[in-house]
Amino acid sequence: MCGIVGYVGSKPAVDVVVDGLARLEYRGYDSAGVALLADGELATAKRAGKLVNLRNALAEEPPPAGSTLGMGHTRWATHGAPNDRNAHPHTGCGGTVAVIHNGIIENFAALRAELEERGHELVSDTDTEAVAHLLEEEIKDGAALPEALRRVCRRLEGAFTLVAMEAGDPDTVVGARRNSPLVVGLGEGENFLASDVSAFIAHTRNAMELGQDQVVELRRDGVTVTDFDGKPAEVKEYHVDWDVSAAEKGGYDYFMLKEIAEQPRAVADTLLGRIGTDGRLTLDEMRITDEELREVDKIIIVACGTSYHAGLIAKYAIEHWAGLPCEVELASEFRYRDPILSRTTLVIAISQSGETMDALMAVRHAREQHAKLLGICNVNGSTLPRECDGVLYTHAGPEIAVASTKAFLTQLVAVYLIALYLAQVRGTKWGDEVFAMVQLLAAMPEKVEKVLETMEPVRELARSLAGEKSVLFLGRHVGFPVALEGALKLKELAYMHAEGFAAGELKHGPIALIEEGLPVIVVVPPRARDVLHDKIVSNIQEIRARGARTIVIAEDGDTSVAPYADTLISVPAVPTLLQPLVTTVPLQVFACELATAKGHDVDQPRNLAKSVTVE
Ligand code: M6R
Repeated sequence: MCGIVGYVGSKPAVDVVVDGLARLEYRGYDSAGVALLADGELATAKRAGKLVNLRNALAEEPPPAGSTLGMGHTRWATHGAPNDRNAHPHTGCGGTVAVIHNGIIENFAALRAELEERGHELVSDTDTEAVAHLLEEEIKDGAALPEALRRVCRRLEGAFTLVAMEAGDPDTVVGARRNSPLVVGLGEGENFLASDVSAFIAHTRNAMELGQDQVVELRRDGVTVTDFDGKPAEVKEYHVDWDVSAAEKGGYDYFMLKEIAEQPRAVADTLLGRIGTDGRLTLDEMRITDEELREVDKIIIVACGTSYHAGLIAKYAIEHWAGLPCEVELASEFRYRDPILSRTTLVIAISQSGETMDALMAVRHAREQHAKLLGICNVNGSTLPRECDGVLYTHAGPEIAVASTKAFLTQLVAVYLIALYLAQVRGTKWGDEVFAMVQLLAAMPEKVEKVLETMEPVRELARSLAGEKSVLFLGRHVGFPVALEGALKLKELAYMHAEGFAAGELKHGPIALIEEGLPVIVVVPPRARDVLHDKIVSNIQEIRARGARTIVIAEDGDTSVAPYADTLISVPAVPTLLQPLVTTVPLQVFACELATAKGHDVDQPRNLAKSVTVE
C-alpha cells in the first residue's frame, strides 16, 4: 500500500532513503516525504505526487548536511486527500517526533478526539498523525523512543507498519508491525528498515523477518526486537537470493516490459529443483507431508485479482489430475462467508506479495476452522508463508510493475506442480502419466520464449485500437480465466472498459453488447479438445455475424478459425491445461502497448498500488 524506508549508518541518509523510495514507489505514488536527523534537529520534506516532486523540492531546498539517520515514505492515500498536508512524515506539536505509516489505524478518530481534548493541534486528515502526537506525549512522560512506540502500539487497532524518529535520540530509528509488512536489512555499521527488501538490496542482501506485533530498534551497531510488551522476540535472518539488477529496469522503458520479457526465465526458475532425474516431483519444501495430502478431501483456493485468475485455472488442473473437488474464492468474499471446512480441507492461498490483507484474513478465517493451509507466494519473508502450514515459492524474482505478469505465469507453474504432485502421491494418475506431463511442463519456458518472439503484430494491433472505448474477451475452460486476466490487464493499464466472459455465457446476455466494430478477443482451446474447440469457433461466428471485430488467439496451424478471424494471433501448440502459459502473454503485451500508446505510465497506473495491505 505505502512504501517505507528507514536508515541508520554513516552514508548520507537522504540519498539512501530517496533511492530506497524510488524502488518502493510501486507501492504508492500519491505523495512522498522524508525525515532526517542532524545535530539534534529533525527536518522533514514532503510533496504530493510522485517521488520526482520530492526530489525537486530537495534539490531546491537541500536538507541539513551530515544526516546519517533518516526515514522516507511513499503514499497510497487512505485517509485524507493526496496533498502536501496529508503526506508523511507526520510530526507532533513540537516537531520533535516524526512518524510514517502503512496501513489503517481503525480507532484513530477516538484517539484524535482524545488528543484534541488534551490540547494537541492536528493539522492533517490522516489516521497517522495521531500516532505522532501520542508518541510525543509518551516521550514527554519520560519514555525512551522504543518504549514510547511499544506503549502507543498497545493502544492502536487495525493494521500498521510504523517507523518513527525523535530529535532527542540521534542514534535510533524504531519500527513496529501488525498485519502489515516491515523487513530489516542488516549491513556493516548500518541497518535498514523497509516495506520490502528491494529498498536496501543495493546495500545488503542480509535480511531479518519481523513477526506480528513486534517493535524493532535500529542502531548503527545492531538491532533489537521485542514484542509490544518489551519482551525479547525471536526473529529469523535470511539471505536474499537476488541482487540489485533484478530490481532495476535493465534498459527497458518500463518494469512491466522487462517483467514480461523475463517470463521464460521465471517459469524455468519456478520449475528448477522440483523435477527429479526420474521425472518424479519433489516438493519437500512444502512442509505438508504426503500422508496429510492423501487425507485431503477438498481444496479451496483463495486469492485476489490476477492471483485469483491463477486460482481459477488451478481448479481445472486439480480436478483433472488430482481428482479432488476444488472451489475458488475471492479472498475478500471468503472471509465473510461461512465456508464448510474441516481438518481434511486444504486451503491454498495464492499471493504474489504475501501481504494482501484480504488473502491474509481469508487464511486466518480458514485457520480458525482447522483447515490445512498452503501458501503460493513470491516474496520470501512476507507474511503469508508464516501464516500457512506450508508454502511453495514461485521464483519470479521481484515484480515491481503494478500489473502482475511474470508472477502470474509462475503461479500457474506452482499450481500445476501442486496438482501433479497430488496426482503422484494420491495415485490418481499413473507415474508415467505424471512423468509425461512434467516433461511437457519443463518445455514451457521455450514455448513462452517463442510467443515473445512473435509479438510485433500484437503491438501493432494494440496501437491501432488505442481509440476504442471497449474491448471484450472470451474464452472457455482454462481460456475463460485467461479472458478475465486479459480484461483486468486492459482495465488497470489502459483505463478502458474491458470484460472477460465465458464464451458459452455470451448468449445468456452479454451478446447484446456486440455492435459493429467492437473488438472481441477470443482465446481458442487446442484442436485436440475437439468439442470445446468447435463450440468456440461457433461463438466466434455468432459475434462476427453481429459485427464484432474478431481477434483470435489460437494454436499454430489451427486453420479452422482463420476464416472468422479479422486478426489471428498464433501461439505454440501445447496441452490444454498448460495453454494459459502461452495465451496470456499476448494479452499482457496487448494491454501494455495499448496503454503506452495512450500515454499512460504502465508501471504506476492511476489509483492502484502493488500490494493491497488494507481491506
Ligand atoms: O500480491 P497479490 O498476488 O496478493 O495481489 C493480488 C492483486 O492485488 C493483484 O494480482 C492485482 O490484481 C494486480 N494489480 C493485477 O495485475
